[in-house]
Amino acid sequence: MKIRIAPLTCIAFLITWTILFQPAHLAAQSSLNDSQIRDKATSLLRQMTVEEKVAQLAQLPGMDIPDSSENEKRPLQEILKQNGAGSILWISDPKEINRLQHVAVEQSRLHIPVLFGLDVIHGYHTIFPAPIAMASSWDPKMVEEAQAVAAQEARAAGIQWTFAPMVDIARDARWGRMVEGAGEDPYLGSAIARAQVLGFQGKQPAAPDHVLACAKHFAGYGAADGGRDYDSSYIPEEQMWNTYLVPFKAAVDAGVGSLMSAYMDLNDVPATGNRWLLHDVLRDTWHFQGFVVSDAFAVHSLMIHGYARDPQDAAHKAFTAGLNMDMASGTYLKYLPIELQQKHISMPQIDAAVLPILETKFRMGLFEHPYVDESRLEPTLNDPAHQQLARSAAQRSIVLLRNQGGLLPLDKNSQSIHSIAVIGPLAEAQADLLSMWGAMTKPAPTVSILQGIQAKAGSAMHVEFAHGPNIRRDNPSPFEDIAMISAVVQEQPAQSQPQRQQSIDDAVALARRSDLSILVLGELDLMSGEYASRSSLKLSGGQEELLEAVSALGKPVVLVLVNGRPLDISWASDHVPAILEAWYPGSQGGNAVADILFGDASPSAHLPVSWPRNSGQLPLYYNHNLTQNPETEPDFHSRYQDLSSLPLYPFGYGLTYTTFAFDNLKVTPTGRVDGAKIEVSVDVTNTGARPGDEVVQLYIHQRAGSASRPIRQLKGFEKVTLASGSKRTVHFTLGKDELQFWSPTVKTWVVEPEQFDVWVGEDSKAPLHSEFQLTN
Ligand code: NOJ
Repeated sequence: MKIRIAPLTCIAFLITWTILFQPAHLAAQSSLNDSQIRDKATSLLRQMTVEEKVAQLAQLPGMDIPDSSENEKRPLQEILKQNGAGSILWISDPKEINRLQHVAVEQSRLHIPVLFGLDVIHGYHTIFPAPIAMASSWDPKMVEEAQAVAAQEARAAGIQWTFAPMVDIARDARWGRMVEGAGEDPYLGSAIARAQVLGFQGKQPAAPDHVLACAKHFAGYGAADGGRDYDSSYIPEEQMWNTYLVPFKAAVDAGVGSLMSAYMDLNDVPATGNRWLLHDVLRDTWHFQGFVVSDAFAVHSLMIHGYARDPQDAAHKAFTAGLNMDMASGTYLKYLPIELQQKHISMPQIDAAVLPILETKFRMGLFEHPYVDESRLEPTLNDPAHQQLARSAAQRSIVLLRNQGGLLPLDKNSQSIHSIAVIGPLAEAQADLLSMWGAMTKPAPTVSILQGIQAKAGSAMHVEFAHGPNIRRDNPSPFEDIAMISAVVQEQPAQSQPQRQQSIDDAVALARRSDLSILVLGELDLMSGEYASRSSLKLSGGQEELLEAVSALGKPVVLVLVNGRPLDISWASDHVPAILEAWYPGSQGGNAVADILFGDASPSAHLPVSWPRNSGQLPLYYNHNLTQNPETEPDFHSRYQDLSSLPLYPFGYGLTYTTFAFDNLKVTPTGRVDGAKIEVSVDVTNTGARPGDEVVQLYIHQRAGSASRPIRQLKGFEKVTLASGSKRTVHFTLGKDELQFWSPTVKTWVVEPEQFDVWVGEDSKAPLHSEFQLTN
C-alpha cells in the first residue's frame, strides 16, 4: 500500500507545488504542441457534466452592474465552486484575481482555471495614446511595441485576455467609438490590427508576458445609422467584404485568439445571432480556430432587439449562430442546459463550442500556471522604459494640421515671446488625456499639457494658466456610474451663463497680457467613446467663443485639440495659425505635446480619417467611387450647394517641420493577372532645413471592370526618417492582396485585366502619378 501511495502523494505534491509556487514569470504559454493541446482538451471534455461544459461558455461579470439579465445573484466563488466558469471580466486587482482563481482551481471538481478578461485597450498602467491616435502614427512597429507593454503590465496584474483591438472601420465622426479604432481605411486598419494582435499576443496566443487578444466588434458596428451608437447597420455584401471585414481578416491571419460579436443589427440580423458572420464567414471561409465572445449582455439583448422571443430563444439563436461565450448576461448558463434537455441543441454542438475555450486555456499555459505573482506587479508597472515609450508613441501620434508662417516650433530663446498663456478646459486635465478605457484600468499619474509646457519652458518663459469655461456632456454617460471609471474621471461642474462669461473674460485678459496663447480645447474623455455619439462636431460649451475671442486680440495663437474624433474647426482652420491634433495622448501626453510645440520632437503623424468641415458631411471617406460627376474633374465644385463636399483635411494628411519632395516614380509590372507583381519605387527627398519623418503613401485606382472601383485606395505605406537634404528610394510591391476586390457582379474575389492608376505622395491627394495594365 505504502509503495503505491507514496508516488501518488509525490505527484500530488509536485502538481500542487507547480501550481502554487512556480514563479509566475515562467508562467504563461504551454509547452504542449497543437495536437497535445487538442488531446488534453478533448479528454477533459469527456469528463465534464453538461453544467460544467455550459459554465465554460459563460463569462461572469466581476463587478456589480445594474442590468436586466439572467445572472444569478450568488457570490462568484459559490458559482465557481459549483461548476467553474469560462471567464470573468471587469476585475483589475491581482489579489482578487488570485483569490477567485484559487477557488476555481482548487475547489471546483475538475480544477479548470478561469480566463480573466479586461478592456486593456491602450495600456493598463502606462497609458499609450488612444487607438485612433496610434493609428495616426502610421507606424505599426511602434503600435506593436506599445501593445506589448500594455500586455506585459496587464499580465503582471493577472489579466490574461484583453478585449482589443477594436478594428471597426469608422467613417462617421458622429459615432463616439471612432476613437477606439484605426479610422476609415481597410488597408491602414489591417496594418494596425495586425500590429496590435502581435503586440498583445506575441507570436502565439499568448506568449509569456502577453495576453490573448480579441478583435471586435464583429462586424459592421462603425456603420451605425447616423453615427448613433448601437443603431442598426445596413451594409451590402460588397462593402462588408471590401471594407468592414478586411481588418478582421487581417487580425485572424495574424493569429488572433478570440473575436467579440457586435451589439447592433447587421442587415436586420443582430451580429450576436448572425450565423452568416459567425459561421459562414468566420469558420467556413476563414477557418478561424479560436472562440467568439458576445459583447456585454448582447445575448440577452437579442430579445430587446426584437429578434428573440424570450431569453431561451436568445440563447438558442446566439448559440446556433456560432457564438461560443456569453459575456455577462447569464443567459447561456440558465438556458443552454434546458435547450439540450429539450433536444433543441445537441451535445456535439455544445462540445464544439467548449473545445476552443479549453484549448485556449491549455495553449496559454493556464492549467500549469493559473496564478499571478503579485510581487512582480510594481516593478513591471514602474519600468521607466514604459513611460519613455508612451512619450515617443504620443510624439509620433500628434498630427500637425496647420502651421501658418512657421509659428511652430516655438523657440525658447525667442526675442518676441517671453510669456505664454495656456488656456482651456483641457489644459490641466489628466484623466481626460487617457480616454475612457485608459481611465478604467490602473493608470499611472498623467502629465497634463500645462505641466508639460511648464516643464519645457522652465525659467526661459513665463507660463500662466486660465481654465476658460467648463465643458460637459449634455446627456450623462452611463459609465459615470461605474466605480472604476468614476474614481478616475474628472467632472467639470455646470456653470451659469455669467460664470461662463467670466471664465472666458479671465482667459482673454490673460491672453492680452501674454505674448502667445496656447489653447487646449476639445472633448473630455467621456465625450468620446461608447455611448458618446454627437449630432454636432462643434467645439462645445463656449470653447469656440473662447477661441475666437482670444484670436481677436491679434496675437499668435496655437490650438491644441484633445479629442477622440475630428471636430468642426472650420473657423480655426482659416484664422488660427497653428493647429495640433493631440487626440487622447495618454500618460505622457503633456510632455509629448510640449516636445512637439518646442521642436524637441518633430510632428510625423497623418490623419487616419478624412476630416469633415462639419457633421453635415458625414459619413465621409476618401475611397468612395468616382460617380458621374467626379471630384477630380477641373469643373467640379461641390456636391452641396451650400458647402464644399470635400474634406477640410484629406485622409493621410499631416504636416511636419520640414518639407519633402517626391519624384522618379517607377512602376514595373511583371506577370499576368494571376500572379501579377507590380514593383513601384519612388524617390523621397527631405527638402527642408530640419530632419523629419515622412509617411510615403501609395494609392491605386482600377479604371474599369466588373464593378465601379474607388477613386483611390491606399495599398502601401512606409514611414521613413530623413535628414535635411537626404534622399531615399522607397519600394512597394503590389500583388494579389492589393489588386483583388470582391465583385458584386460575380460574387467572389477577382483580379481583373484592366488599366490601373498609381499615385505616391504624402496624403490621399498625392499628385505624382503613373499607371500600369494587367493582362490576361
Ligand atoms: C461593451 C463594449 O462595447 C466592448 O467594447 C467592451 O469590450 C465590453 N463592453 C466589455 O467591457
